[in-house]
Order: sequence, then structure tokens, then C-alpha cells
Amino acid sequence: MNTLIRNGTVVTSRDTVNADVLIEGERIKEVRAGLPDDGARVIDATGMYVIPGGIDCHTHLDMPFGGTTSADDFETGTRAAAFGGTTSIVDFAIQARGTRMRDALDTWWKKGEGRACIDYGLHMIVTDLANSGLEDMDDMVREGVASFKLFMAYPNVLMVDDATIFKALGQTAKNGALICMHAENGSVIDVIVARALAEGKTAPVYHALTRPPRAEAEAVHRAIAMAEIAGAPVYIVHLSSEDALNQVREARDRGVPAFAETCPQYLLLSIEELERPNFEGAKYVFTPPLRPKQHLPKLWDGLKHDHLQVVSTDHCPFCFEDQKVLGKDDFTKIPNGGPGIENRLQLMYHYGVNQGKLSLNRFVELTSTAPARIFGMYPKKGEIAPGSDADIVIWDPKARHMISAKTHHMRVDYSMFEGYEVEGNARTVLSRGEVIVDAGEWKGKTGRGTYLRRAAKGGAWQ
Ligand code: URP
Ligand code: ZN
Ligand code: ZN
Repeated sequence: MNTLIRNGTVVTSRDTVNADVLIEGERIKEVRAGLPDDGARVIDATGMYVIPGGIDCHTHLDMPFGGTTSADDFETGTRAAAFGGTTSIVDFAIQARGTRMRDALDTWWKKGEGRACIDYGLHMIVTDLANSGLEDMDDMVREGVASFKLFMAYPNVLMVDDATIFKALGQTAKNGALICMHAENGSVIDVIVARALAEGKTAPVYHALTRPPRAEAEAVHRAIAMAEIAGAPVYIVHLSSEDALNQVREARDRGVPAFAETCPQYLLLSIEELERPNFEGAKYVFTPPLRPKQHLPKLWDGLKHDHLQVVSTDHCPFCFEDQKVLGKDDFTKIPNGGPGIENRLQLMYHYGVNQGKLSLNRFVELTSTAPARIFGMYPKKGEIAPGSDADIVIWDPKARHMISAKTHHMRVDYSMFEGYEVEGNARTVLSRGEVIVDAGEWKGKTGRGTYLRRAAKGGAWQ
């Protein structure tokens, strides 16, 4: 049976129009005012915005990291995402050193298969290009893994040297994939960290104090310079500071294809969170760290003026009680990461649109359309138009919601935004034409999500 979403205001990255949306099977068939129902199931969207489903292009579900594993798996994490209006994610498979990327892809496919509740793509984290690494990158692109993450931080764990980064960038210049860069100078940070520990500075706040914004800016600058030499675009993940932002802006002003995302935590929280008593600062230990307050308005400004193109979450949850506590006596042992997959749209709508920092269309662009374009999913995802997947959120701009670990759906025992009251929330969420969330109730089936094969030469190349 067809579905007709009637009487809503359709908001895309370009337009805001009163129109009905007709869905046939998994796809959108028609978008215009006054569509007849012709026996379709009708969903009334009076007073609602009808927006493309959110796309979170930076999540870590079921990821081994810091001596433990992130607390949400593909079932719990994607279901929580759906409650917040996100209908696609791009997660990260990790190539273990000395192994082939295909092994990692198989491992991550198994994690997603039969569990994911929404559609999911994968980036590949590259740790080793020796032997067949460059061929593996081409192989991954053929499998729809059109992007690779490289780390300039975490020496001896995930960090790769500049030669490896440059070779990887060179390969993407040929195969059309996109390098996503974790840009922090890990070698410098390691020296500062060792110094802090030697001075007995072990509390969570030293995580932030040992990773200065200049270490991020330096790495962003180097990443962009290497990309320019290689003739490839580059995408900076989880950008956190004004210093780093200035590097991206300067490059973009020169016409360099440099792109960057930030996350709600960097827009709304600051370094003081890490000073919470009773080790609670550990809840805010992630990398790059939270910055002093003066950085926050600069990042909002970056979103408004397209110096930053995407808002993702970097959802990487670890429970406070039995995981964050691993670093009780040493901040370097606190598993790095925080939860957020469920709250991205709520926070960006409330603090962005309601507070006049973002237009409605820019909100849609940052949370859905731009990630779809940049990561090779557009116009299948990120759009409300005939032929696109019917991934649609019926957004209630007046719904009030208090964010809390007591009510959220993420499998983690705290919220970084505990007690935040937001206005605007997902009322009904459709994924490929199927209602999966309605009025706070889960209607979907575990395992219904499918693997997203993404195309190379996405938006970063145009
Ligand atoms: O602290 C973080 N961000 N954990 C997840 C891994 C990463 O670097 O994105
Ligand atoms: Zn990272
Ligand atoms: Zn991450």
C-alpha cells in the first residue's frame, strides 16, 4: 500500500514548501500540494516539518577501543539513532595492522547484519598500507566503502605516519574515495601527556589540557597541505577548535577542496565539564577534547558560513560505571568517546534553528543532505524528491523533550546533555517507506537496516 504524508511543510536543504509526499514501496513517488490519497495510508503532518531522515556519518558501534568495546552495538545504536530522527549512519571498520582491509570489512558486515535497524555504510580505518594496502583501498571502493579514516593521533595504536597519509591521499586521487582525517599531532601530544603524568596530573581534565588546540590546528594544516600536493580532497572529522577551523577556512578561501564536520558536543559543551567532581569529568573524555568557551561561537559561525559542512556525532559510548572507570587513577586509561547518536537533530534544531543561528534549510543540509552528497549517497539519501529513498522524518517543531539517560534509548548509563530541555523532536520516522518510530514508540524490526554501498567521486570531488 502507498503512503501519503499530507498537510506538512516539506523542508529540504534548498526549499520550504507546503506539499504532500507520496511514497510507493521504499521510494518517494511524488511531492506536490493537493495529492489525492487514492487508497493510500494517510499520515497527517499538519503543523509538522517533513524533512529528509538524518544522516550521521561518524559513529562507532560495537568498536573495540581503549581496552574495552563501545557500549552500543548495531542494534541498540541504530535504534536509538532512529528515535532521534536519524535514518542512516556511516560507521567505521578498523583494519588491524598486518591484515587485509577485507577482513575488517567482513567483521563489520557481521556486526551490522541482522542487527542494524536503519541503513548503514562503512568507512575503513587504515592502519597499515604495507604489502597490499593500496590495492585494498581500490577493493574497498568497489565494495561501496568510498571513504577512509586515517589517524594523526594515538601513536602506536592507530596513528599512521605522513608517508602513509600521503600515499593514501594519492590513491584516492585515482579511485575517487575521500580521506577523513583525525587531525591532532599525536607525537607532540604524547610528550605533553608523559610530562603531565610524571607530575602526578592524573585527573580527567588533563586529557583536555594535554591536547592543545594548536596540536589540532597543526595537524589540520598538514593534512590539507598533503591533500593539496596529492591532488585529492580531504575531510577533517570532529573539528573542535577555532584554531583548526581557521585552517579549513583559509584553505577553502583559496579554493582548496577541504571539508570538515563538527559535533554537538563541541558546539554546546566546554572544558569545564571535565572538572566535574567524583570522576564525572570522565564522561566528557573524548578526542579531540572539549575546548574553552570562546571556541563555541566560532564553530557556530563556521556552520553558518559553510566553513564547516556537516554535523555528525562521533557517537562512541562507554558506560561510566564499568568502562570510564578504567581510568580512575590515570586519565590516559579512560576510554575515549561519548554518546550522542540519539540527540543530534534535537540539539541542532533547538540550539541552531530555535536560537536563530541556523536556518531550517541549513539545519537539513548540515544533518542530512551534505553528508549524503559528500559520502556518495545522494540523491538516494538526504533528499525529498521523486526517486529518493523514503527516509523521512515528520518533525514536530513544538514538541518539548528533556534529554536524560533515564529515558534515552542508547545503551549507556549517562547523557552528556542530561537535563537539557529542547523544543522540536521527531514525531514519526520512516525508513525506506516503513514507519519505524511513531510518537515515541519503536515500530521497526531489528535487522531491517541494509548495508549502504556508497559511490566514489561524491560531493567532495565536484
Ligand atoms: O574520542 C573519540 N573521538 N573516540 C572515538 C574515536 C575517534 O577518534 O573518533
Ligand atoms: Zn577520531
Ligand atoms: Zn570517531
